[in-house]
Amino acid sequence: MRIVQVPLGNRSYTIKIGGGLLARLGAECAQLKLGRRCAVITDSNVGRHFAKAALKSLSASGFQPVLITVPAGEKSKRIAVVEKCYDQLAAHRLERKSFIVALGGGVVGDLAGFVAATYLRGIPFVQVPTTLLAQVDSSVGGKTGVNLKAGKNLVGAFYQPQLVLCDLDALKNLPKREYVSGLAEVAKYGVICDAILFAQIERNLPKLLQRDAATLVAVVARCCEIKADVVGQDETEGGLRAILNFGHTIGHAIENSSGYGKFLHGEAIAIGQVAAAKLSHKILGLPSGDAGRIEKLFVHAGLPVKIKLDAVQRKKLFAAMKLDKKVSAGEIKFVLAQKIGKVVWSQRVPEKLIQQMLDEIGSRLSKTGN
Ligand code: GLY
Repeated sequence: MRIVQVPLGNRSYTIKIGGGLLARLGAECAQLKLGRRCAVITDSNVGRHFAKAALKSLSASGFQPVLITVPAGEKSKRIAVVEKCYDQLAAHRLERKSFIVALGGGVVGDLAGFVAATYLRGIPFVQVPTTLLAQVDSSVGGKTGVNLKAGKNLVGAFYQPQLVLCDLDALKNLPKREYVSGLAEVAKYGVICDAILFAQIERNLPKLLQRDAATLVAVVARCCEIKADVVGQDETEGGLRAILNFGHTIGHAIENSSGYGKFLHGEAIAIGQVAAAKLSHKILGLPSGDAGRIEKLFVHAGLPVKIKLDAVQRKKLFAAMKLDKKVSAGEIKFVLAQKIGKVVWSQRVPEKLIQQMLDEIGSRLSKTGN
């Protein structure tokens, strides 16, 4: 097992990465000195595989868990679902010392984290991420929240978990598309600050695609180390933390403009990272060899690097980019790469170049959209 610390003063916590951790959930929670009542929030897919084991482990350690299952998919990340969760927490009389376990991928983690951040003005929570994407990114760092029609993650709170348990065994049954989508976030860590990690991912891609345990533990731990370091320096995204959004300005706009659920988050940010690399080449002189390596890695992993857009979809995509949280004074700001392993944030990009980039990543469709 690998252990990574997230250094945030009295809100510091541990990330544990390894096999067989779900069975230890109760014992791990027992060390946190929390109340006996708790709620496991999961979704209909994850719950089928892992809820029983989670409840059993918690009960065996003396906790009184209740299970709350939300429909699987991005559409559960909305206020109406948050309210349903509150109602169930209240019905089961969860109190200030009670806690929530977020058991699932990014959607469940963001939703359950937001519920924990706001129910009774905040109760403790533990992240048990069951997807690769959630293990390397969304479960760490305390970003919680839900989507609005107007955009992704527009309502939320920075609220840190007490513990993150990354059980690598959970990845064994993950559908291939979901697993591969997580590799886009994994590669992001290489692009933003670790050229050695990026080269390792290129070299070990076949092993990663086979979900080789030894390769995974090393890679997941390295991604968590990078995330912990960045979050430890800039918890609320005053500056540095923005680098974690490489590829996300365009990626979020793709998710929003295509209707949540069409693209998985990792797929959208794979296209977004390729697009950001193209902008980086034009604006910061990112060597075309580096931009090519990013695109090639995603192609080899089986991730999309282009998107089909008709004129209406293109307009929608552009409008969605303008609604991104990273917009300031009406200007869209990008994280751009100088080379693999080094990025800068808050970069202005002239609209003309954004339109050129959309030409490059969007295979044009006819007016009918065929
Ligand atoms: N996923 C980006 C962040 O946590 O800041």
